[in-house]
Amino acid sequence: MIYDVIIVGGGISGLMAAIEAKTSSNKVAIITKGNIFKSNSSMACGGINAVLDEKDNQKIQSHIEDTYKSSLGLANLQNITYMCNRASKIISKLKLYGVDFDKDESGNIMQRPFGGGRHNRTCYVKDKTGSAITQVLIKQAKRLGITFLVNTFVLNLSTHKKRVSGVIALRRVDSNVLVYPAKSVVFAGGGYAGIFRGNSTNAQDYTGDLTAVCLRAGLTLKDMEFIQFHPTGIKKTNYLVTEAARAEGGYLVNENNERFVNELDTRDKIAKAIIQQQNNHKKVYIDLRHLGLNKIQQKLPSLYNAAFNQVGIDISKELLQIKPVAHYSMGGVEVINMVESKIAGLFICGEMANTQVHGANRLGGNSLLEATVFGELAGQKALSYSCENSFEIINYNNVIKDIEMIDYIFSSDSSKNFNAIRVSLGNCMYENVGIIRTEDSLIKAFDYIKYLRTQSYTLHCINKERRNNVELTSILELRNALEISEAIILSANLRKESRGSHFREDYPSLDEYYNKHILVNEIKKGFFKLEFEENSFLSSIRSLLINKN
Ligand code: FUM
Repeated sequence: MIYDVIIVGGGISGLMAAIEAKTSSNKVAIITKGNIFKSNSSMACGGINAVLDEKDNQKIQSHIEDTYKSSLGLANLQNITYMCNRASKIISKLKLYGVDFDKDESGNIMQRPFGGGRHNRTCYVKDKTGSAITQVLIKQAKRLGITFLVNTFVLNLSTHKKRVSGVIALRRVDSNVLVYPAKSVVFAGGGYAGIFRGNSTNAQDYTGDLTAVCLRAGLTLKDMEFIQFHPTGIKKTNYLVTEAARAEGGYLVNENNERFVNELDTRDKIAKAIIQQQNNHKKVYIDLRHLGLNKIQQKLPSLYNAAFNQVGIDISKELLQIKPVAHYSMGGVEVINMVESKIAGLFICGEMANTQVHGANRLGGNSLLEATVFGELAGQKALSYSCENSFEIINYNNVIKDIEMIDYIFSSDSSKNFNAIRVSLGNCMYENVGIIRTEDSLIKAFDYIKYLRTQSYTLHCINKERRNNVELTSILELRNALEISEAIILSANLRKESRGSHFREDYPSLDEYYNKHILVNEIKKGFFKLEFEENSFLSSIRSLLINKN
């Protein structure tokens, strides 16, 4: 089957894009690496930010300002403005598709306060907002006749003369490499916080695969050093203790039962405050006991069940120990005009895109908004492009290279264990490139990752079975994760200041000199080029001022 538009990624941004790209006469497919119900979006619990009254300019303005303030100068105000203005329309669209937001007695959508916001603007479905939206969008996509190609791992992009011609992918069921031609392609593959395996709320297969595909296709990565550490993951399992728990009145306390931070501050500040407690050998807990069982079961049912099932804690009666965990990547692939890439016909959205609406620190509740708003836009643009352009040539030499690469992984034996490497990568990143970074820790991580990268190219499948070979995909994911880790570390080392989620113990203050983005390109396999880019928003203000004077 040949598709007009292919969307890679089955999270909320990918689903939104597919729905917008579908017409009664075209063919649209969503390719997903694994199960469509298990995307990161479906794990975003707490809610989606929106000012519901589209005429309330004051409140919309405060949403724009809060978002920009939290970015610490590294966001693009035009893109934020587009996102915040579009929010109420998006909520109406989601309602129309069937999302049943929690409502008060009068039938109005309820909104909770989230960190860094001046107003209650987070709309929610209990504590399973992402999952509720995902399920509704999947149903809508199926209703429209969109095809789901699941268990399909995208290896590389196919292009011809800087125009997209399709994707090259591994069909996991039989390990065959196939080409899926398309007139336009949307990449919505999620972020890379899963690289911090064992210390992340993300599913462990969020290894930045599509980000690595973009890097290999010659696209630029931006702001890679900015990774959000969610203040509250369950200590033993990393399960996300949603910000909704604090929004509903939960406290953070240390083992002396002392509160030590404003629970509704921005995530970067809370995460750092928790680390300081831990460095003083104090355990940290979330205390929800005063909310009472009724409220907990009504507002936080998923958390209640998870805490009980995973660690045997009844949060209505006991404290739950937490730790900050890697949650979200603000960095990603550079986009122009919000969702376009430098390859014609390729659009990028969701967490993997650097839409510059979050900058150095994202506000909770803005990720689902970003996913829906820019997913919608990417789908609309991909549709127009597919209507105005025809199929491009596929270069089969590139397909053959990928077939050979897969055959090579099957070809020999190996005594090395991919899983051990993957676990040590996650720990190395958390310890050295985590919430607190120094030049020494970054260099240590860099050397180790370089070593692991060489090791990863000598890995082979011990199990030679071609049907559903988990080892094969794990090796491919590991290689991508290592490529992306190197980009993160190099960027973190170059940014010799502290800003938002990027905290350098050796450069603890924000430095105006770094009011710019760090761009990463891979000029040759394993060789990265880093450069600074002025924040286009700040530089346009500066040139405006210069022209005025
Ligand atoms: O805490 C949460 O529920 C996560 C929300 C988000 O990352 O936006």
